Amino acid sequence: MTEVLSYDVLIMGSGLAGLRAALSAASVDRSLSIAVISKVQVMRSHSVSAEGGTAAVLFEEEGDNRESHVYDTIRGSDFLADQDVAERLVSNVPYEIYQLDHWGMPWSRRSDGRIDQRKFGGYSFPRATYAQDKVGFYEMQTLYDTCLRHENIHFLNEWFCTSILSDGSSFRGFTAIEMKTGEFVIIKSLAGIICTGGAGRIYGFSTYAHSSTPDGLDMAYRKGLALKDMEFVQFHPSGILPSGILITEGARGEGGYLVNNQGERFMKRYAPEKLELAPRDVVSRAMIREIQEGKGFKHETGIDCLKLDLSHLGAERIKEKLAGIREIGIKFSGIDVINEAIEVRPVCHYMMGGIHTNIEGETEMSGLWCAGEAACNSTHGANRLGANSTSECLVWGNITGKHAAEHAQRVKDRTMTLPEQQIIEEEKRIYDGIFHGRGEMNPYEIKKRLAELMDSKAYVFRDGNTLAEALKEVKELKRASWRHVDDKAYEYNTNYINVMEIDSIARISEIVLVGALNRQESRGAHARIDYPSRDDVNYLKHTLAYYSHEGPELRWYPVQITRYAPVERKY
Ligand code: FUM
Repeated sequence: MTEVLSYDVLIMGSGLAGLRAALSAASVDRSLSIAVISKVQVMRSHSVSAEGGTAAVLFEEEGDNRESHVYDTIRGSDFLADQDVAERLVSNVPYEIYQLDHWGMPWSRRSDGRIDQRKFGGYSFPRATYAQDKVGFYEMQTLYDTCLRHENIHFLNEWFCTSILSDGSSFRGFTAIEMKTGEFVIIKSLAGIICTGGAGRIYGFSTYAHSSTPDGLDMAYRKGLALKDMEFVQFHPSGILPSGILITEGARGEGGYLVNNQGERFMKRYAPEKLELAPRDVVSRAMIREIQEGKGFKHETGIDCLKLDLSHLGAERIKEKLAGIREIGIKFSGIDVINEAIEVRPVCHYMMGGIHTNIEGETEMSGLWCAGEAACNSTHGANRLGANSTSECLVWGNITGKHAAEHAQRVKDRTMTLPEQQIIEEEKRIYDGIFHGRGEMNPYEIKKRLAELMDSKAYVFRDGNTLAEALKEVKELKRASWRHVDDKAYEYNTNYINVMEIDSIARISEIVLVGALNRQESRGAHARIDYPSRDDVNYLKHTLAYYSHEGPELRWYPVQITRYAPVERKY
């Protein structure tokens, strides 16, 4: 007999957006039962690795202003952001900064005790609110501590969700595997929020935790919900070699700079005004151009790279403001940034796309919301500015938590029937199709090949032929016989979980490639060498990808332009 659990609000994902949503829902009504379900322990959510900052306008008396934050975000997005959504982000995020402060967040401070902010790429003012270079870790700890003070917030840690249940139009809950026992469990709920983060582990060279696979996106896609703007993948300029671990943009915000093999600070040729603090798409393209012109370095692994020099900042400043990345450099690259420039290369860091929502974070399914990187509410358009992601998680965690709680209050007395047929089909999919499946190929080889394809054929610069080659091979890999699990244990069967993750990686990689092939222009992080210009006539619109058995079906969706007409981006 399958176990059935029941909550009023069910949040999938325990990162910044998920925890913020739980607190927001709890503040609406203390009598609601709220559960946060996650495949990892809370403090292992990938949000803990956010380093550099949370963008907000805090110092209007010093010249900063909200309109400038809105415009920087829209210009950074290459005009694909929905402008009303960017305005919502900017107007709500200062509250989130002070709310975290009241909950105990140890923000870095100025000598007069006020919260400090640092420079970040693409902004007109120093706007990245920071806590040394471990912003995500401290924000997560602050939110988690606060959640633990609420008796009605429950944590289901190390539970792997496999599908969304619905009655056709309304949310009914999730199916999941409790990893400790291997049991298949139904969790029904009046309202749901997906906060499963980004899908950056579809790439091999990636700043993401290995757990950042597209399970949440794939569940929504399989359920018939659209994934929006998936072709826009952000490559952060400073991933260290060979691991891809992030060196925060805060390092450049504090005054670090990039050099080529001639010792030249080359960004002056690409972005004369903003230099290394141009938006990430601009800096990453400049780096690859330098490498293509033979001006890069060779890392000892043979990988081409540039160098990020911080040595002029001095030991004291580095130890005070950038202690985390100094430690990362020493441990994972063997380089102490106090003494030496560190080798870096553009690395997969963020997905602008995600589950299609409106400005309230509402998905196309009644009773289901989505927040944080898993969502595409179109704040970031074709290119996100650094430090706007943690801002988005907090703002839409709060918004969606409130909506979900109010929805649960409204429908509380309704008798909820479970969709029996869906549950049967889901058990069949994951047990007969995957756990007991027969496959000749090693699933981990498939994962490696998928990542190699994305790394080599859907990187900073793209072109139609290579994207088409990658798509053909991804389709073949999808069809090949590899869905099987060698480990037959029930308890903590990570092999089983991995194979389900790889299944989602294959589908989501395909969507990225189909979107990239169909968008025949260059905009933000999507740079096509065969279509080098932005084409506002034909492509000033979002892509929506819907599930079909043959592969994603693409549709287009309008962009909200309210106040700012698209112009050429110059930095
Ligand atoms: O460079 C960084 O610290 C990354 C920040 C972000 O992606 O928002």
